[in-house]
Amino acid sequence: MTGNKGKFITFEGIDGAGKSTHIATVVDLLKARGLEVVSTREPGGTSLGEKLRELLLHEPMHLETEALLMFAARREHLALVIEPALARGAWVVCDRFSDATYAYQGGGRGLDKAKFAELERWVHGHLQPDLTFLFDLPPDVACERIARQGRDLDRFEQERADFHWRVRQAYLERAASAPHRISVVNAGLKQDKIKKIVEEIVVTHCL
Ligand code: TYD
Repeated sequence: MTGNKGKFITFEGIDGAGKSTHIATVVDLLKARGLEVVSTREPGGTSLGEKLRELLLHEPMHLETEALLMFAARREHLALVIEPALARGAWVVCDRFSDATYAYQGGGRGLDKAKFAELERWVHGHLQPDLTFLFDLPPDVACERIARQGRDLDRFEQERADFHWRVRQAYLERAASAPHRISVVNAGLKQDKIKKIVEEIVVTHCL
């Protein structure tokens, strides 16, 4: 154990990569060790953030407005949830964080990534996740998974295939630029195999 200091773990991947199941795996693993875990998500995680999420997922808007609202929701999330949790020694497990903005608004929408670097400095200073899982899957496979769920799609899920390929590519580039932090997991493997890999990474990297 590395003392009682909580870590910040994030989960990323294109829509349909299946990260939700494995978020639960990590939360259970940490709780089983008696650790305080705050499980949260972006966009969202606060009362205001969830309202912004609703707009971001369903309301058409200018591309830069979309990126700015992602960071605005993130500032609120950091101030009200993430920073206080880490300050009291709790662990934070978060479904998406700034890597998603680089992938979706940068890769997918084609916005200038240099702007995100500035916003990132403003919104979270030097705070970065201690560990990020990137669930990687070809978009055509992910798309079939989503179709099988038979639910209504949000604005991002409704995007064409080339958008999702660009998001995936941007995620992989981001992982290559921060290999010490981002672990790429093959989301095409069987669930129990992924579970094992995820648990092993958390144990060796964080506990
Ligand atoms: P998602 O985790 O897919 O929610 P759910 O699994 O419940 O559908 O997140 C919602 C969407 O928000 C997802 O399509 C990616 C998008 N998103 C961005 O475009 N930029 C960001 O910075 C974040 C945090 C999310």
